[in-house]
Amino acid sequence: MTLDLADDAPHGALLPEPDTAAAASDADVCIDDDALPGQSAGTWDEPNSGANAAADDDQPGDIASGQAEPAAPAPAAAAADNPRLQRWAHYLADLEAYASMRVPLASHGTLVRVTGLVMEAGGVRAPVGAVCEVLGDNGHPVQAEVVGFNGDRAYLMATGELTGLRSGARVTPRAAPHSPPLLGRDNLLWRRSEDRGLHLPMGDGLLGRVVDAHGVPMDKLGTLNHVRNAPMVRRPINAMDRDPVRRPLDTGVRAINAMLTVGRGQRIGLFAGTGVGKSVLLGMMARYTEADVIVVGLIGERGREVKEFIEDILGEAGLARSVVVAAPADAPPLVRMQGATYATAIAEHFRDEGRHVLLLMDSLTRYAMAQREIALAIGEPPATKGYPPSCFAKLPQLVERSGNGLNGVGSITAFYTVLSEGDDQQDPIADAARGILDGHIVLTRELAEAGHYPAIDVEKSISRVMANVAPKAQLDAARRARALLSKVNKARDLIQLGAYAPGHDAELDLAVRLQPQLVALLQQDMHEPADLAHSRDQLIALTGS
Ligand SMILES: Nc1ncnc2c1ncn2[C@@H]1O[C@H](COP(=O)(O)OP(=O)(O)O)[C@@H](O)[C@H]1O
Ligand SMILES: [Mg+2]
Repeated sequence: MTLDLADDAPHGALLPEPDTAAAASDADVCIDDDALPGQSAGTWDEPNSGANAAADDDQPGDIASGQAEPAAPAPAAAAADNPRLQRWAHYLADLEAYASMRVPLASHGTLVRVTGLVMEAGGVRAPVGAVCEVLGDNGHPVQAEVVGFNGDRAYLMATGELTGLRSGARVTPRAAPHSPPLLGRDNLLWRRSEDRGLHLPMGDGLLGRVVDAHGVPMDKLGTLNHVRNAPMVRRPINAMDRDPVRRPLDTGVRAINAMLTVGRGQRIGLFAGTGVGKSVLLGMMARYTEADVIVVGLIGERGREVKEFIEDILGEAGLARSVVVAAPADAPPLVRMQGATYATAIAEHFRDEGRHVLLLMDSLTRYAMAQREIALAIGEPPATKGYPPSCFAKLPQLVERSGNGLNGVGSITAFYTVLSEGDDQQDPIADAARGILDGHIVLTRELAEAGHYPAIDVEKSISRVMANVAPKAQLDAARRARALLSKVNKARDLIQLGAYAPGHDAELDLAVRLQPQLVALLQQDMHEPADLAHSRDQLIALTGS
């Protein structure tokens, strides 16, 4: 190490005095990034001593004292000014912390009980989130994840079929993945306990591909190239570092562009019952939205729908710039949840590369339902409509991961579908989702039944960021159009009964006159894109007349 330093450092007065060096190196190790709290919060067994690595280590001091004889007047300043030296000091500190990370001895336990979805294993000392292998009778391991524990009993949930397991089967925790530090990088990838959880493939090789929740291709196009395994849980962005939503996004759907303008980095819910055109609408957005990458998460859909969505709705053009993660309804609940987090992690990966990502998640309700299955199975008490409290905690954890990136570089604009039958405002998931999203688009069955597609009920829908991203003329026009639509809808019964006669209410007359054009503006064929500027101009021209 001394050699490295000497090689890299310019000769002469470069290193701090021994005593200041100890302080400086401590500071170096401690403040070099935000990761230490995460590190001490837990690696495998015991809190890894970020503090230890920092405190008992006098090595950097030793190196310094070996070299610091011809000390300069302001050595600490010299070190601070020397980027190469700093880079090496960082790297050494990273190596030290990495080397002091404890790796538990390989151990195994035994399966003692299986009830429903949950397995109990004795003698397994693995942390929550760790992946284990349970060896079945046929010699094939079943993968399982630790979801909780009680004393020395670990609760596991399988990410595959339980067939073939018997009492006493061997349970082996899998070694935690971690990557050694690299010189000249922010080596953060092994410092938090989350970084040592599940790693799945991410990267450009996923574009145009359909994968399952484990990152295994489902499209029979061969193995994934140009991907790298990365942790599923990425570092959260400080709320103060996030850019607010300021730029409009062209979704290619006229009703949304004109009346419910969406901003880059916004998170919107698509509320609808089944069969009213959610999938078709998501497909239109996947094909027409101006985005660099589209990530589609199909969570808890029927298997047939997955194929239909990819072949008929997304099409070749849509798929070329998309990644589809599918975790259909027959997958175990843990896998369905993993599908949603994997899709989000892929979106975050592209966002961190500075790209503008559109994340389409179908559906958020099924994600919450999967969490309900897990939580109830491991004994959490149900609260609202059978949903245990953890379901409501998981929703914002997932949704908060999308949005704008740091300093306006990349962004994730996300659409989450939420199942809501009729106007059931009581559905707790729909309720919770409405609170954590930046807007909701409601699709109604009446419109779909009347052949009005996309079946967006603009009166019930709102984009909470529209005021920040649309020009005033458009905002005024949208408000006017809403008022006119509402007026004519209220008078619909009168009109149908023939009780309406023009000349009594000028506003209603205007609404009745403009209604066909307004309705035409809001309807759109699924194979026809409508760009933002054109949609806006059409709306302004219509209400201005
Ligand atoms: N924009 C559209 N144009 C024409 N038909 C549509 C449109 N959107 C939806 N539909 C019709 O509605 C049906 C159901 O849509 P789908 O998106 O599969 O519903 P969901 O995903 O809400 O269950 C489609 O099979 C299609 O016939
Ligand atoms: Mg659908």
